[in-house]
Amino acid sequence: MDQTILNKIKVNIEASTKLDVALQFICDTLSSEISGYDWVGFYFHNEKTEELNLLVFSGLPTLHTKIPFGKGICGRTAKSNEAYISADVSKESNYISCNIGVKSEIVVPIFNKKKVNIGQIDIDSNYINHFSKSDLIFLETINNFISKKFFK
Ligand code: SME
Repeated sequence: MDQTILNKIKVNIEASTKLDVALQFICDTLSSEISGYDWVGFYFHNEKTEELNLLVFSGLPTLHTKIPFGKGICGRTAKSNEAYISADVSKESNYISCNIGVKSEIVVPIFNKKKVNIGQIDIDSNYINHFSKSDLIFLETINNFISKKFFK
């Protein structure tokens, strides 16, 4: 876990007043400073439409700015409330491809103060098997900073 990046993100979140600006900073920081974090985005739940909505991202534009709960890796996490690591996205049966170059992916839910799943960070890598338990812990830590600041 990269403490320098974590601290930079923590300081920025604490100084931020706008959710989208703070999260765009996180996307840009992670994608530029961590090798293999090739697309970084935040989706949030729309409970009325039962869809995830893309709020901000860094990387190639995606057509999938709205994802129904249950569909793809992201939509499954919206329902399961559990993080998911796909070592090889070509082996997934329930998968939405955003870009042909993507080989592995991690999705980590964001919980509010009441422990309700409200959104997620989604990271695509152009390398196979790129994400490990330490990425998971790193991203959970970032999501907790976000929750403490904006969803308390
Ligand atoms: N691959 C995701 C869709 C989001 S894109 O990766 C940006 C999925 O299967 O849900």
